[in-house]
Amino acid sequence: MSIKELVSKYKNKLDINELEQLMALALHKNIAYIYKNPDKLLSRSNILTFKKLLNKRLADYSLAYLKKNKEFYNLNFIVSKHTLIPRPDSELLVTEALKNTSNNQNIIDIGTGSGALILSLAKNNKHTANYVATDISTKALNIAKTNARKLKLKNKVKFIKTNLLNSINNKFDIVIANLPYLTPEQMKEASIKKEPSTALLSGKDGLDHYKKLLKQLPKYLNKKYLILLEIDPQQKESIKKEIINNLPQAKIEFLKDLANNIRVVKISN
Ligand SMILES: C[S@@+](CC[C@H](N)C(=O)[O-])C[C@H]1O[C@@H](n2cnc3c(N)ncnc32)[C@H](O)[C@@H]1O
Repeated sequence: MSIKELVSKYKNKLDINELEQLMALALHKNIAYIYKNPDKLLSRSNILTFKKLLNKRLADYSLAYLKKNKEFYNLNFIVSKHTLIPRPDSELLVTEALKNTSNNQNIIDIGTGSGALILSLAKNNKHTANYVATDISTKALNIAKTNARKLKLKNKVKFIKTNLLNSINNKFDIVIANLPYLTPEQMKEASIKKEPSTALLSGKDGLDHYKKLLKQLPKYLNKKYLILLEIDPQQKESIKKEIINNLPQAKIEFLKDLANNIRVVKISN
């Protein structure tokens, strides 16, 4: 059986573009090879590998997990079942942070996962800075460290295993965080079922993590600060209340994502 025949056999089950990507993965080739060689005959083992991947994809494993990598901010990141797959919407945190950089800042990313946010920031920041990335998961931190090595940023970013800011002593100019913010109801959605719930779920209203973080934050901020938190659009009013309780003088703005939904709260002074 050829590449073309096998792909077309399953075209009713999955989008053709995804089938071709699975084929590329099964053959350890890039996608251009699949386009250029539709008549290439497949071995039994090629077909078996493809079917295994297809079954996983049909069981809601995302393509990024099967490929074990995901592009974010034009960089390639390794991901695993212990990390969230970085979402395009989260690029907003990086873009906004980059607009506010200057020399010698202390920058922290809380709940770094694959390291996508802090590493994209460090790679694109024209100014000198000290970077810290934290996570409660050792396994996620190991992936983030591997990504730092691959991007030649190992010596720039300090990785720390800690629950929120518990083991942190410094003060920061820029704080970015995409911590878990989903409710148990939102966790039922098929597309996220295969991702680690420790990366997504945050109590009944999805705000457990940010409520705790906002209580801790005041004593970790330098005189002039910027905090960027990724949130769910529905959390606008409740997060605003929490911010006012903990940082009454702060300026609060909401930034919209690619779909024009509120996605980031910007807190500054
Ligand atoms: C939504 S994921 C975001 C990952 C990454 N920042 C991104 O944007 O792709 C949340 C991350 O926060 C971490 N996390 C969960 N609870 C935490 C806590 N109490 N302290 C620090 N990190 C935590 C999870 O392990 C996970 O890696």
